Amino acid sequence: MIYLKTAEEIELMRASNLLVSTTLAELAKHIRPGITTGKLDEIAEEFIRDHDAVPGFKGYSDYPKTLCTSVNEQVVHGIPSEKIVLKEGDIISVDCGVIKNEFYGDTAFSFEVGEVSEEMKQLLKVTRESLYKGIEKAVEGQRVGDIGYAVQKHAESFGYSVVREMVGHGLGRRLHEEPEVPNYGRRGTGAKLKKGLVICIEPMINMGRRQISQGADGWTISTADKKPSAHFELAIAIDKGKADILSTFSFIDEILNKSQ
Ligand code: MF3
Ligand code: CO
Ligand code: CO
Repeated sequence: MIYLKTAEEIELMRASNLLVSTTLAELAKHIRPGITTGKLDEIAEEFIRDHDAVPGFKGYSDYPKTLCTSVNEQVVHGIPSEKIVLKEGDIISVDCGVIKNEFYGDTAFSFEVGEVSEEMKQLLKVTRESLYKGIEKAVEGQRVGDIGYAVQKHAESFGYSVVREMVGHGLGRRLHEEPEVPNYGRRGTGAKLKKGLVICIEPMINMGRRQISQGADGWTISTADKKPSAHFELAIAIDKGKADILSTFSFIDEILNKSQ
């Protein structure tokens, strides 16, 4: 079942996704060598509850925390812990969800911890670019496969690989709605994009090979070859001509550029 949202519902979803965006910007102030991912999770949960919302991931399929924090070779679904201390040169994907006014927000950003290698910087840059390449295709009349094709083409042109097992998704009163939105695919294939459809596009791009493995905790997904992986996610509403981007990295960018 594909749910198309009304204009009013899209405004509620914009509020939910804006809250995730500002939560990630709050975390941007704290991400540096020495902080634990457990502490980041605490900060996020408090920030979300202070803004009349509840964490969207906590309790979802029994997931225990507010954030997914995935460091270096971890792709997604890393569980925050007081024992995981960030160090200079790490990269960390922080994925955050909320429920506000019955609607989910879901957005992720990959951060640099202190000074990182040029290799890592390029992986982050290209992954973020590939997300925007996908968004360019996310307009009424195009198909889901057009998004995946654009993401994949950009990432692979740098020799990177695209994770297949996890995909983007519809977003609404549920965290994961139809359709699935793969980060790979063929042009002109898959479901047709209609105005009012809200989806998350979330490329997971590996520096090495695309294969992944699941951790003993039942959640953490890592690259099989232990090379780094990056992840960026935005929620967008399909519209005529141009996607309506409901979440934003602009607050994060503001914080990061200030601290340089
Ligand atoms: N945030 C992930 C996504 O973007 C889903 C996380 S599910 C959880 O789709 F249970 F791990 F939180
Ligand atoms: Co997410
Ligand atoms: Co998502």
